[in-house]
Amino acid sequence: MNMSQLPESSKSIWMSTAAVPPFAPLLEHVVADVCVIGAGIAGLTSAYLLAKEGKSVVVIDAIGVGAGETGRTTAHFMPPDDRYFEIETGFGADSAKLVAESFQAATDLVEAIVRNEQIDCEFERLDGYLFSPDGKDRETIEKEYAAAGKARVRVGMVEQVPGLSFDTGPAIRFQNQAQFHPLKYLAGLAASIVRKGGRIYGQTRALSIKGDDRQKIVHTGAAEIKAGAVIVATNTPFNDSTVMHTKQAGYMSYVIGIQVPKGSVPRILLWDTGDPYYYVRLETLDPQAQHEILVVGGVDHKVGQDEHPEHRYDELETWVRERYPMAAQVEYRWCGIVMEPADGVAFLGRNPADDKNVYIITGDSGTGMTHCTAGAMLVTDLINGRSNPWSALYAPSRKPFHGLSEFVKEQVNVMAQYGDWLSGGEVDSVTEIKPGDGAIMRAGTTKLAVYRDAQGELAVLSAVCTHLGCIVGWNSAEKTWDCPCHASRFNVNGAVIHGPAVKPLAAAELPK
Ligand SMILES: Cc1cc2nc3c(=O)[nH]c(=O)nc-3n(C[C@H](O)[C@H](O)[C@H](O)COP(=O)(O)OP(=O)(O)OC[C@H]3O[C@@H](n4cnc5c(N)ncnc54)[C@H](O)[C@@H]3O)c2cc1C
Ligand code: FES
Repeated sequence: MNMSQLPESSKSIWMSTAAVPPFAPLLEHVVADVCVIGAGIAGLTSAYLLAKEGKSVVVIDAIGVGAGETGRTTAHFMPPDDRYFEIETGFGADSAKLVAESFQAATDLVEAIVRNEQIDCEFERLDGYLFSPDGKDRETIEKEYAAAGKARVRVGMVEQVPGLSFDTGPAIRFQNQAQFHPLKYLAGLAASIVRKGGRIYGQTRALSIKGDDRQKIVHTGAAEIKAGAVIVATNTPFNDSTVMHTKQAGYMSYVIGIQVPKGSVPRILLWDTGDPYYYVRLETLDPQAQHEILVVGGVDHKVGQDEHPEHRYDELETWVRERYPMAAQVEYRWCGIVMEPADGVAFLGRNPADDKNVYIITGDSGTGMTHCTAGAMLVTDLINGRSNPWSALYAPSRKPFHGLSEFVKEQVNVMAQYGDWLSGGEVDSVTEIKPGDGAIMRAGTTKLAVYRDAQGELAVLSAVCTHLGCIVGWNSAEKTWDCPCHASRFNVNGAVIHGPAVKPLAAAELPK
């Protein structure tokens, strides 16, 4: 298992090429101005900005710095996943301008932090291109070009993405986007936070947040953190059992890193308008080497709703080889969760429950580098009593009115998952489970999640998700139990890998 508690086989390129320092667990009660829960890009950027303004900050992470989706991203800084024309239709032209402004400001902030804190994380500015699969959807490209221009984004139109040998058809050029090595950035941020007096703890899971508007108490099991404000930066909030989970859904996105000869592929960001869509960047791991790594992601599906997703890596590889014939061997394969907001805009700000001093950063879709950085800027303003021009747009309390059809579709999908309680098991006997595989088995009125390791030993757990009781599903590619309802994930020993669950799957016994 690597630091994210997933098998070594699903390590990202970033996890394989950066050393992120471990932090000791919190074992005593502490007091701070702000407690930040989660040490991904959202949590560490918030902690950094607050520490810079003189706040005392405590950061806790259930696993460690970068152990979540920031360690599994592809780290393009690019325009929102939902198109500017969709944001304009749903929220109005002024809001589309605000989204563009927040994305620009977030990218500029990351660049400034990298410069000021001298973080060696390969940050570079480069252009990004949006095209339609096989060049067939000129209408969408033209609509988006017009809406992005109206939102004051620096765009140009090209008839073909330059430097590529396959036909992209017309594409929008988004100037001055960016990319970096996300874990080197987080390691640098963590060091800066500590230099500014911030305290960071690993292996410390927040189990609950209690208290009042004056002071909150975060309980971790071993300790309590008393703080004037709490930021829940856990990718999906664990502190709210239902409201936010009806407004967003977790999708699993797959990535491969494949060798290409140095200089054979242009240094650009590339993504298409397909559904699901593909996204591409280039990574130079070693400037002296003769090859670079083309990082290609896509073929998403709802978390917990594909038990044998290995074929998705094959689909990615086929897609790459058809377009980049110079591609050699696949070096990396990994996947991770993208939280998709029903209306396409992230949830950044005050927690919708009547919690004046609890803030959340979530729903950042495939643009978490910018959304999470903008979220950190926004909550830092709110905690410091300043107004922020983006706060109404990103307010987590907003109704998902603008994405109503998406919202209804997701709720119907979640309700359908509860039907799993009534169905039989995937196997009738543990003898049907091969070494290295897992399966769901019926046991009277409940269900068991049974895994057999390479040595033949069985790990038997309750299959009932500890969040809101859906039946988890096996993920044979990652060897995890994934919940099809709200994207909780557990490893084969039941430990939580992704929330909103906070408690492990319960140990269970096979029926006699
Ligand atoms: C395959 C993939 C490709 C992507 N590509 C891009 C891209 O190109 N560009 C882009 O902008 N975005 C991209 N994203 C999205 C982006 O990576 C995420 O939105 C972003 O990393 C989320 O950061 P975060 O800080 O909110 O969460 P995370 O990085 O997941 O951090 C949350 C942390 O909270 C901790 N935690 C959870 N629960 C608790 C608890 N109860 N107590 C204590 N700690 C807890 C976890 O251990 C974790 O370390 C991609 C995501 C994936 C998976
Ligand atoms: S994640 Fe909500 S029931 Fe499993």
